[in-house]
Amino acid sequence: MLDLKEYGIEMWEANKIASFREKLLTWYDENKRDLPWRRTNNPYHIWVSEIMLQQTRVDTVIPYYERFLDWFPTVADLAQAPEDRLLKAWEGLGYYSRVRNMQKAAQQIMTDFAGKFPDSYEGIASLKGIGPYTAGAIASIAFGLAEPAVDGNVMRVLSRLFEVDLDIGQPSNRKVFQAMMEILIDPDRPGDFNQALMDLGSDIEAPVNPHPEDNPVKEFSAAYLHGTMDKYPIKAPKKKPVPVYLQGLIIENEQGQFLLEKNEADGLLSGFWHFPLIEIEEFQTENQMSLFEVAENQSSLDLSPQESFEQDYDLIVNWQQQSFPKVQHVFSHRKWHIQLAYGRVKNSQHAADGEVLWLHPEDFGNYPFAKPQQKMWEAFQEARNE
Ligand code: ADE
Repeated sequence: MLDLKEYGIEMWEANKIASFREKLLTWYDENKRDLPWRRTNNPYHIWVSEIMLQQTRVDTVIPYYERFLDWFPTVADLAQAPEDRLLKAWEGLGYYSRVRNMQKAAQQIMTDFAGKFPDSYEGIASLKGIGPYTAGAIASIAFGLAEPAVDGNVMRVLSRLFEVDLDIGQPSNRKVFQAMMEILIDPDRPGDFNQALMDLGSDIEAPVNPHPEDNPVKEFSAAYLHGTMDKYPIKAPKKKPVPVYLQGLIIENEQGQFLLEKNEADGLLSGFWHFPLIEIEEFQTENQMSLFEVAENQSSLDLSPQESFEQDYDLIVNWQQQSFPKVQHVFSHRKWHIQLAYGRVKNSQHAADGEVLWLHPEDFGNYPFAKPQQKMWEAFQEARNE
């Protein structure tokens, strides 16, 4: 067992822990948010909610959660879902490896657990994409096991309660918060205890605009009592995402169909459909610049992005002299800057490898489109309607 004193943390006596639990749970009973996944003990439903809630706000998650369970009512349905349908269900939520891992985990449940959701912490944690936080959340909420669910919110709350001088962004520090929670968690109501801390962390103890006066356990909080709320939690600033510059090519044929490709590479946005994207070194100026200027700035030996596209696809494109607002999209480690170009083709026979489609805009809804693609389409339509 990890010695908390070594980390400068003085754990409370048993009676203080008991009164903390009572205060927190009484507040939770009176104030808890009424959320769809709080009306069930079904581990599959709780799992779906917990995966969606990683990096996504509750209000955004609710309609996704309901639709997901409507489309895939059981683990078996999820295990068998076609890729396009799976990505469509997650469209707009981002971090798509989450849903791909869920499908792999569903297949694991079908093969390794005879279709029955595992009911031990170890069994749950053995599933693909389920780390200690999610395993703890499912084990405690669905099965009543006294397992902590330590995420950023919980670490923030604990940092203030105990004035913890450890960087909560440092993965190796998580074990300290886990050890604190193993002592604090109420063994009679572990799921509610975890969720009470989640509610506290996302509202009263939010990272921005906290309202510490409303905190039901403020008399337990060292940071509140010592006036050090601004110091905690300790968190080093995040690294900036790496910029990536791309040309997005919007190509229309004479039937009013647009060229879309499926991203078949592994990694970011794998499996999604998008307008052809070509990575370039950097835009030449910060201002809007048409592709023609970009092309003129290239050395005459290099092909411009559109020329190399025409060559790769064996298409002759009539590029339109129109400039578009730049599209930007931030992922966790990358920021895409996309410059659009629009061209028309007479003959839409093409020689591209891989999966390519000519689609009417009214059919876009049948394919999974990620956020950058949606933003490209919106920017294009706005400029066109001006
Ligand atoms: N955030 C993560 N899990 C949650 C839950 N079960 N309820 C509310 N917010 C959450």
